[in-house]
Amino acid sequence: MSLSILGAGQVGMALGRAFTQRGEPVTFGVPEPARPQAAVAALGPLARLTTVDEAVEGADTVILAVPYGALPAIAQARADWGGRILVDATNPLAPGLAALALGTTTSGAETLAGLAAGARVVKAFNTTGAENLGDARYPGGTPFMPVCGDDADARRHVLGLATRIGFEAVDLGPLKAARWLEPFAMTWIHMALRQGLGRRFAFGLLRRD
Ligand SMILES: NC(=O)c1ccc[n+]([C@@H]2O[C@H](COP(=O)([O-])OP(=O)(O)OC[C@H]3O[C@@H](n4cnc5c(N)ncnc54)[C@H](OP(=O)(O)O)[C@@H]3O)[C@@H](O)[C@H]2O)c1
Repeated sequence: MSLSILGAGQVGMALGRAFTQRGEPVTFGVPEPARPQAAVAALGPLARLTTVDEAVEGADTVILAVPYGALPAIAQARADWGGRILVDATNPLAPGLAALALGTTTSGAETLAGLAAGARVVKAFNTTGAENLGDARYPGGTPFMPVCGDDADARRHVLGLATRIGFEAVDLGPLKAARWLEPFAMTWIHMALRQGLGRRFAFGLLRRD
């Protein structure tokens, strides 16, 4: 399946690096393709850079690595997403990373799904820092990546993408679980930025019989 990433900032570039390093071609779509040209070129020949429209047109799977506020316009720019998988890596952050702008009785991902007609929305890649998305290797184990979405095939595909870039991908079921994944992202942000742990840690899943 062909993969596009909207946004070539911290998250977009990190995911782009992770996928291209594993041999997966990635097309970046941004509003002004001239801006991240050098950074995308540095990823090598598997990374392509174009407009948002072109990136979406040619993709089966589109990762949204843009500010949350950009989602409504992106979602409504197409009358029908034609069954594309839209992977929501965003968080509905209030200014200054101080809080979430919405949550617990709904989620950014569900709001997106309500706006993107014909898309299969999956929440993933929002619960850990960009550095971990680019390089998930840790000496103490494998970081986990929770994934949820209402379409089982789409969810399975995204679980596969997360596994491919080195995460223990965990199926959280229907998209409603995004109500818990967005606040969970705030836990990582709080620990990293407010509590002084820095950005070089990740959450793992421990099990016993
Ligand atoms: N940073 C993290 O560690 C992290 C981790 C997990 C999740 N997240 C979430 O992931 C999202 C992206 O975060 P980020 O840190 O990567 O942000 P960022 O570094 O500011 O990058 C945002 C990117 O989106 C582009 N963009 C803005 N509007 C767009 C549009 N309408 N269509 C396509 N591209 C558009 C920007 O282009 P221009 O530069 O040209 O404006 C930029 O390339 C946010 O929702 C954030 O909450 C962040």
